[in-house]
Amino acid sequence: MCGIYGYVGKKEATPILLGGLRALEYRGYDSAGIFLPESGIVKTKGAVNELIKRVPKKIKGTSGIAHTRWATHGQPTNNNAHPHTGNTGRVWLAHNGIIENYQELREKLKKQGSVFKTDTDTEVLAHLIEYRLTKTGDIPLEKAVLAALKQVHGTYGIVVMDKEEPEKIVAARLGSPIALGLGEGEYFISSDPSALLEHTRNVVYLNDGDVAVLTPLGYSVLVNGKKSTKRTAEYLDWDAVDIQKAGYDHFMLKEIMEIPEVLVNSARGRINKKTGEIKLGGLEEVRDKLKDIKRIIIVGCGTASYAGLVGKYLFMDLAHIPTTVEFASEFRYQKTPLSKDTAVIAISQSGETADTLAAVREAKKHGLLTLGIVNAVGSTIARETDAGVYNHAGPEIGVASTKAFISQLEVLTLLALSLSTKTLSKTERQKYARAINALPKQVEEILKQKNTIKKLAKKYARSKNFSFIGRTYQYPIAMEGALKLKELSYVHAEGYCSGELKHGPLAMVDSSFPTVALVPKSATYKKTVSNIEEIKARKGPVIAVATKGDTLIKTIADDVVYIPKTLEPLAPILSVVPLQLFAYYVGVLKGYDVDKPRNLAKSVTVE
Ligand code: M6R
Repeated sequence: MCGIYGYVGKKEATPILLGGLRALEYRGYDSAGIFLPESGIVKTKGAVNELIKRVPKKIKGTSGIAHTRWATHGQPTNNNAHPHTGNTGRVWLAHNGIIENYQELREKLKKQGSVFKTDTDTEVLAHLIEYRLTKTGDIPLEKAVLAALKQVHGTYGIVVMDKEEPEKIVAARLGSPIALGLGEGEYFISSDPSALLEHTRNVVYLNDGDVAVLTPLGYSVLVNGKKSTKRTAEYLDWDAVDIQKAGYDHFMLKEIMEIPEVLVNSARGRINKKTGEIKLGGLEEVRDKLKDIKRIIIVGCGTASYAGLVGKYLFMDLAHIPTTVEFASEFRYQKTPLSKDTAVIAISQSGETADTLAAVREAKKHGLLTLGIVNAVGSTIARETDAGVYNHAGPEIGVASTKAFISQLEVLTLLALSLSTKTLSKTERQKYARAINALPKQVEEILKQKNTIKKLAKKYARSKNFSFIGRTYQYPIAMEGALKLKELSYVHAEGYCSGELKHGPLAMVDSSFPTVALVPKSATYKKTVSNIEEIKARKGPVIAVATKGDTLIKTIADDVVYIPKTLEPLAPILSVVPLQLFAYYVGVLKGYDVDKPRNLAKSVTVE
């Protein structure tokens, strides 16, 4: 949440910083700001475009910091936009995270003469650093930062500048990601490495507790405030085209259209088409431990948690391993001792979600094996879990998760299959291998219907409420379909397992309340068909997502979107695609910015 960018070097910093903010805008977009020690501060509420309009042409300087905000403390106003400063305007700072003890610090600082100009928690940090710098005498900025950070409880990713040392940026991290980009005589700082790609592929990730000092002459990392080390840079193996719209109106549509390719990439080299054998390189080192696992707990947030719910059915059905799914924000508070033969699987596109990371750390405290299913390479969750499987979905920029969700489902399927050597026969596993291989073409078939889905979106766009229903494997997809619609169109939508309908939600149904019914051919097909009949008996409009060739459903539902036939555990990968497109088109028709839904951010790094 919030995007931070920094630059020190020989070039004009402004275009670099603004370009960085553009690339980071998906992390937060309610206000933005830029500070160049040689020129000063410009900040405004609104998106990065608003800031660009306000940055004067004459603004000059070869170093600076910038920020795009997702408000936590204080409304999105010009004043609350980052960077922030202390009393004298000497120290400037941009922050991502939350300073939990800011009120206490604020009171203390007021007594020492600090005058606060904003409602943010961040401002205390600027005052603390400035106070150290001005009152303690001649100390370097990094020393003042280290001393100030010792007084702070909470999380942060920060970049700090001192007007009196304009060629130096100090960055620090605790709980909020910071990556350093290494160039020739120039250095970049970003809260997401993908925003560095335009300038460099050599990246150093800061760990919690690290403080980095960057000047045009080089960089150093202070580990826990003590010894200075040079970290080995990692090479970013991404394609710059992946983070551009490539002719699409929105990243979200581009990312949905990429799903066939993502399905190929997520399975590449991991599945033997002939034998059905699964090889997940990232799990090799824990292979023996995995054999003894008797229980799985999946943790994640939002869409990732719904992928986890599909995973629960997969692990139970294919590998016969009892599995539960917990919202990561809840798991960390559980008190029951967990037996050591439990594995905790954390699912996260960004690999930086604060609650999911906290759940991983909690699981580690219990001495449990932790595995990550993560898309962002090198992210904190990927680094802190014992082992894991990368999604290989490529950068996902649209705030609503689409292609990453699909790859999470595919990786979960591969993982369940890899654990099923005792529970599924070779023939059955070969059948799965064939069905997985067929998925990319099958999704292409669904994507060809995008204009039909657009028409459906038009037909139903005025409805004020929706419900989404499905059973077993389709139940999490009902939840996901409802979440996508809420996120993109701000329309009220709820997902239910179809069996729950008559236990309450049916009371809502009338001719103005459409239901999206997920009813591909499955063991529970007839039961969901009965539920659809119950809705129709109350005049509720029904859009069905059904298996190609199902003629019965056409006679019951008002509208049908067909998906190709596959094995029941793989059907979520197909059935969710029309729901993503539906939500996308409803959002677009309503005139909303579907890539950046209001109040949301891509990477939720606060708890
Ligand atoms: O990066 P993560 O997968 O950990 O993010 C988890 C959720 O914040 C995320 O899936 C969120 O629900 C999306 N906006 C859904 O589209």
